Amino acid sequence: MLILGLQGSPRKGGNTDSLLAAFLEKAGQAGAAVKTIQVARAGIVPCKGCGYCESHGTCVIADDPMSTEVYGLMREADMVVAASPVFFYGISAQLKGLIDRSQTLWSRKYVYKLKDPLAATRKGLLLSVGASRGRQLFDGVHLTAKYFFDGIDAAFSHALTYRGVESKGAIRHQEGVAADIDEAIEKTVVPLVSRKKVLFISPKGACRAPMAAAMAQQQYGECVRTGFGGWSPASALHDPMVRAMERIGVDMAYRKPENIEQALYGARPDLTIAIGEGVDEIPVPGVKTVQWPLPDPVSSDDETMDRLRLEIEAHVGTLMQLFE
Ligand SMILES: Cc1cc2nc3c(=O)[nH]c(=O)nc-3n(C[C@H](O)[C@H](O)[C@H](O)COP(=O)(O)O)c2cc1C
Repeated sequence: MLILGLQGSPRKGGNTDSLLAAFLEKAGQAGAAVKTIQVARAGIVPCKGCGYCESHGTCVIADDPMSTEVYGLMREADMVVAASPVFFYGISAQLKGLIDRSQTLWSRKYVYKLKDPLAATRKGLLLSVGASRGRQLFDGVHLTAKYFFDGIDAAFSHALTYRGVESKGAIRHQEGVAADIDEAIEKTVVPLVSRKKVLFISPKGACRAPMAAAMAQQQYGECVRTGFGGWSPASALHDPMVRAMERIGVDMAYRKPENIEQALYGARPDLTIAIGEGVDEIPVPGVKTVQWPLPDPVSSDDETMDRLRLEIEAHVGTLMQLFE
């Protein structure tokens, strides 16, 4: 399970940076894989407001880190932590730039009516600091976070905000921060980390395994975290499979086949499902492996892919029995 931290302050080693690092360190100790984007130094191009994402479902700026990396991480993340200082009663310009680019994911959700497989369980958490002590200090930050998290399919679960924090390092002297982090980890991270991990493997990890992983994630997301991979992973998902999932409203965009070892961010699976022919070896020694003998589809036309999807759906319906 992955927690993605978005560090929105331009001040390296500043209060936001320290607060986020402290949160992610504890999350790592609780068993989560963590990744931080230093947003101010990531080179993310601001939104052009051109409307391309609403007519195409992807961003017209295809070659910056937002398109090549961050959308994928936001899709993979079980929790997104937005961390920002208060700048003029709002989010920093740097983090706001990234948030505006999330309009692409908003479009996929609200214009194309597609549902990300992790939508039901992804959490959003806000960390923020400001120098003054005004009652409304975090109102602007809160509102932006609320609509950001909604757009990326994350339930806004927690906000840790601290007033009177100005000079570099001041957050370290703020009372109660460690206890607040512990409480947030207990309530938000621990339930996500405690889910059973199921690894789906097909030869290239591009069609049957991701289809099964997405369906199982949607159906059992409260108690299961799935990953998918291939023995020889393809460079991209099988496009006809992506379309077949879109026909039932499931969004597979920004995902790609992984190596078996990376499919669950290094976490050991509790169960492995090996799909298809030529996958007889036990992929993870010591982990229960179940074979689903679903043959490679003979063609990629819509009818064949829809039939495959139904077959996989029937198998996924039996998944929880495999833990008994
Ligand atoms: C451009 C700018 C605007 C700021 N605006 C506010 C503000 O509106 N209200 C406030 O309380 N603090 C404001 N601050 C202070 C910062 O929020 C505060 O120093 C914070 O601790 C900085 O966090 P950092 O170390 O993560 O950058 C502002 C600071 C800067 C540089």
